[in-house]
Amino acid sequence: MRIIKAKDYEDMSKKAANIIASQVIMKPGAVLGLATGSTPIGTYKQLIKKYNNGDLDFSQVTTVNLDEYKGLAKDHDQSYYYFMHQNLFDHINIKPERTFLPDGTQADSDNACADYDRIIAEVGGVDLQLLGIGHNGHIGFNEPGSVFEKDTHCVDLTEKTIQANKRFFASADDVPKQAYTMGIRTIMMARKILLVASGEEKAEIIKEAFFGPVTPAVQASILQLRKHVILVADEAALSQVK
Ligand code: GLP
Repeated sequence: MRIIKAKDYEDMSKKAANIIASQVIMKPGAVLGLATGSTPIGTYKQLIKKYNNGDLDFSQVTTVNLDEYKGLAKDHDQSYYYFMHQNLFDHINIKPERTFLPDGTQADSDNACADYDRIIAEVGGVDLQLLGIGHNGHIGFNEPGSVFEKDTHCVDLTEKTIQANKRFFASADDVPKQAYTMGIRTIMMARKILLVASGEEKAEIIKEAFFGPVTPAVQASILQLRKHVILVADEAALSQVK
């Protein structure tokens, strides 16, 4: 595991984007695992900038996203499909048919998840998986206590996650109660993993996840077992790490 300390959010975003850019430059047909949440938005902005400057070409890149709310239409402004188009895909030269997310509109969870695992296998697995981290240590939507050996599956969101995500919806009642997410096994299969974290409110969980015991209670703690994990975090997020 490598920890790269950034000064602030902007610096974290630049450093993370540089890592993703180098992956695409080294392998133009790379498969990128992507994440949503507020943290990676700055990273996506930096990638768009590099594309606009003519420094990055996404024409051969494939993307697979970590998760999607179950039951939201693709054009719902809180679906992760919508998020990815707004924050990245619509601004770069990626082929829309090379961008994949779990299909939240599929009511049959088993089919939706099996389809998604098939897609990940067909594209050859993930070269670089970008992750954020939830306040309870979740990655994707793998909530505390979930067993590590899961592929893509349907989860019931915890109250903490619903509360954390309600800021994006009219009210907590409007937050979907379930989501489809890559499981920890799916995430751990990625050849490299990049986790981004910013701000004081992530300091405690960053300490627990990367320096505490490896336990399903803190899903991100499993990343300690991987060599090719890079944590890019700003000073505030690392403030509890000695
Ligand atoms: C959501 C996403 C996660 C993300 C987390 C943290 O629950 N499913 O992938 O890491 O939020 O979001 P933020 O970066 O806004 O703190």
